[in-house]
Amino acid sequence: MSCCNALRTYSRFLRPTQLMTVLNRSFGQPVAQTHPHILKQGEVTPFVTKEEYSQRRHNVFNLALKQFEGSKNVKDHIMIFPSAYKMFMTIPIPYPFRQNTDFSYLSGFQEADSVLVLHNSQKLPVSHRTLSPETGMTSVLFVPRKDTHAELWDGERSGPHGAVEITGVDGAYNSEDLGQFLQQYSEHHANYVIWYDIEGNVHPQLHRAGIEDFILQGRQKCVETTTRSVHRIRVIKSPAEVQLMQKSVDIASESLEEVMKFSYPGVNEAYLEAKMEFECVLRDAQMLAYPPVVAGGNRGNTIHYTRNNQIVPGGDMILMDAGCEYHGFTSDLTRTWPVSGRFSPVQRRLYEMVLRIQLKVISLCTPEFTLEQVYVYMLHLLGEELVSLGLMKKKDKSSNHAEEIRKFYPHHIGHYLGMDVHDTPTMSRHTKLKPGMIIAIEPGVYIPADRTSVPEQYRGIAIRIEDNLLITESQPIVLSDKCVKDPDHIEEMMAAAKS
Ligand code: GLY
Ligand code: MN
Ligand code: MN
Repeated sequence: MSCCNALRTYSRFLRPTQLMTVLNRSFGQPVAQTHPHILKQGEVTPFVTKEEYSQRRHNVFNLALKQFEGSKNVKDHIMIFPSAYKMFMTIPIPYPFRQNTDFSYLSGFQEADSVLVLHNSQKLPVSHRTLSPETGMTSVLFVPRKDTHAELWDGERSGPHGAVEITGVDGAYNSEDLGQFLQQYSEHHANYVIWYDIEGNVHPQLHRAGIEDFILQGRQKCVETTTRSVHRIRVIKSPAEVQLMQKSVDIASESLEEVMKFSYPGVNEAYLEAKMEFECVLRDAQMLAYPPVVAGGNRGNTIHYTRNNQIVPGGDMILMDAGCEYHGFTSDLTRTWPVSGRFSPVQRRLYEMVLRIQLKVISLCTPEFTLEQVYVYMLHLLGEELVSLGLMKKKDKSSNHAEEIRKFYPHHIGHYLGMDVHDTPTMSRHTKLKPGMIIAIEPGVYIPADRTSVPEQYRGIAIRIEDNLLITESQPIVLSDKCVKDPDHIEEMMAAAKS
């Protein structure tokens, strides 16, 4: 029910003072009434409607049911998804809050200290179930209670009524009622399956406040992890999710070009990080997706270099790995460019080599192959190129050739990308790519300054070119094709920026 329809329906039964309470209801996250520049009516989060959230919950629940199809005496399933909790730099200063991804994917609810429960009980008191016709599934949220004092300091909360109105779940209660709800569940059932990510330790406090007892003292048949089921659904993006991902990648692509144009010999890496964040937020991203790598020269050989505090002299290249988060969806790009605006002959030789490899491996990102196969192919191409440049010996029996190549390329060719940067990590890289998947592909070459086995002119260079791709039935769509990577185009763009 849309909020307006809901109001119309409620208003017939409410006294004027009660109606004012509904109209004045405050929410702990943007909704269409308060943030019309972000959300449309019917959307829980930008682009994603209540119907889509409901569909996600049903998909995950159905997948869980399917795994027990053969087990005749197992009928009842209960899935428990805790939210993230607030973390503090120092009391009372919180780190920026990021919601737990699986919880966010299934509810869209943005407050900490909440829990989503999905179940198909027919035995709980009627007040605890609103059976959906397809699966008999009920979705319930437990959320922080309304609290005038806490809200004065930390901002509004939605409370249980607001949570139902925002998300469209079947019911909602205060978080502290979770323990009692679970106890009631175990009193009414036996031989059920608890779906819960025990190992993830997602919310230790809520775990201790009811979930732990439910598991230790319950009459369940078994406890199964939730993550695999959710990731199997999450890995394929819906049309709305593709739109969100394209926007996230567009913002990062345009912003990264602005950073390249802004860079100059003698620039501090920290300025480039700040410039990236500024440009992304100006384009409506909420934040950077991860601490970016902004590495001048040899520092690019430290794969996770994030100190970003050195001066980049003319003559060095900058390797920048950065992306943004747009309403929960992340981009993940890398570009490498000469800070002076012109590649040296050696830099260009290596850069063109990586680009040749990148274009070849992108063309392999089709449903015929897995990420692992693309990786193996990439190592083979890199080996051939390095041998022809004289940086490696030809394959022979005296050395482990693959091991030697990996010294020039110590990480994987790519990963799934979505709400998390390394998205759906329980999905194997041995899975065939499928239309609707989004991946990051990031070939490169790394030659540390102390690699004395190669001629001196090649030492201290690190290059990576990372793009984000949407898998289709045929060739992938390069979502980041707006971000320059041809070396001539990079030089032209930088020259134009300086003129
Ligand atoms: N930025 C992390 C990665 O490229 O995988
Ligand atoms: Mn990256
Ligand atoms: Mn990546």
